[in-house]
Amino acid sequence: MNLIEMINARRLINGPEDKLMCVSPLKHPWAWEMLDRMENNHWLPKSIPMGDDVLCYRTRMDQAERQMYDRSLAFLSNLDGIQFNNLITNIGRHVTSPEASMTLARQAYEEANHVRSYATMTEAVSLAPQEIYGMYQTDEILANKNKFIMAQSDELKGDFTPVKFALAVIGNICLEGIYFYSGFLNFYVLAKNGKMLKSADHIKYIQRDEETHLEFFCRMYETLQQENPEIFTPEFYAAARKLMMAAVELEISWGKHTIEGGVLGLTDAIVELRIKHLANVRAARLGWEPLYPGVKNPTPWVEKFSAVNGSEVNFFEGKPTDYQAGGLEWS
Ligand SMILES: [Fe+2]
Ligand SMILES: [Fe+2]
Repeated sequence: MNLIEMINARRLINGPEDKLMCVSPLKHPWAWEMLDRMENNHWLPKSIPMGDDVLCYRTRMDQAERQMYDRSLAFLSNLDGIQFNNLITNIGRHVTSPEASMTLARQAYEEANHVRSYATMTEAVSLAPQEIYGMYQTDEILANKNKFIMAQSDELKGDFTPVKFALAVIGNICLEGIYFYSGFLNFYVLAKNGKMLKSADHIKYIQRDEETHLEFFCRMYETLQQENPEIFTPEFYAAARKLMMAAVELEISWGKHTIEGGVLGLTDAIVELRIKHLANVRAARLGWEPLYPGVKNPTPWVEKFSAVNGSEVNFFEGKPTDYQAGGLEWS
């Protein structure tokens, strides 16, 4: 088989092996496009100073706000750890497109970068970091949520089938596009109330990465539809929708748990509608009917506010207007 024949035979899964990573020409140029986007969005947690937030956490946050902040940090940090390992030990070993494998490697690096970001926040504000890192040992709701997500990603550890892989892709779309988002909302609401602005900056950069990861997995889903159409039976769609709705229920119950005690700008109804709205957006991206017909976005301000440099407040206080690679001009 010559090189061109080999590249033409290439597939996202179950394709011929190419351990030499010959990537010209590309069979899956969308993976390259995603890798470019990830590289262009490069950022480092240590570049966002936490000093203001340390003072704010200790002097301006009430008990419910601190509890919400801690719980959100605990879960988000756990989730990025789970995702880093999932990409390396589950998803990555079944991918037979070198360009998709390289993009997965970059994504795994970014998940590790997010773990560092949450560590930066935890170590800055918490007097007892172990209470955040180890929260899952005492918080049953958090422990169960982690367990459910890990069990999903471990499905690929048994005998491999394309259907299992496609469901793992849906699991990742839930992870990148739903599970993080009540946590993100909590940080944006605090920032809108003028609190923990540096933490919100961390979250904005993390969310921008997660949006790219989400798009990467949506492209994988589309590629599976082209290369493995036999996967997409009515049973598969039913299982995929069920999985996403289970993710929604889990994220809503966790989101409500984080705001116990009452936080200005957040209610149980806002948490629930926000997550259902996001699930509808993810479903639409996959070409599905809405999972929750008629649900309206209860927090339309978040879309602009969460964009890097998208809020009216310049959180960087005169620092660069964007953190694109090659465009760093720290004054
Ligand atoms: Fe992440
Ligand atoms: Fe991610």
